[in-house]
Amino acid sequence: MSSDEDFEEMVKNLQQKIDRDEEETYSKKVIKEYRSPTNFGFIENPDATGQIKGPCGDTVQIDLRIKGNIIQDAHFWTDGCGASIACGNMLTKMITGLSLGEAKRITEVRLLEVLGGLPEEHMHCATLAIMTLQKALTCPQK
Ligand code: FES
Repeated sequence: MSSDEDFEEMVKNLQQKIDRDEEETYSKKVIKEYRSPTNFGFIENPDATGQIKGPCGDTVQIDLRIKGNIIQDAHFWTDGCGASIACGNMLTKMITGLSLGEAKRITEVRLLEVLGGLPEEHMHCATLAIMTLQKALTCPQK
């Protein structure tokens, strides 16, 4: 076996170990949301936006496209952990199509339920996503 093949084999084994560790730690929904986030990114000229840097040092931003009283589109951005990507993606999916009042009533408990839970040390990532949404919902609308 060449050293290139040894290296590729080592990388493959390492990736499999990372995948196994993730699967033991996170729910299937969390893994799906953060491995393939559909709403990651920004909305150009959003109707509302909120950005918060959490105590962990990570930032989350949520942009909203609002028509009348309804959230037509929602995107998020974060430089945070995998759990924050899962939370941002699930939350922006949950609020799309809701009225502003309905979106305001979503709690971190509900977000955690929908995600199938998070490890204790990542619960604050759900709180950060919810606080960012609350900030976006209170920012001046166009
Ligand atoms: Fe900072 Fe998850 S958002 S650790």
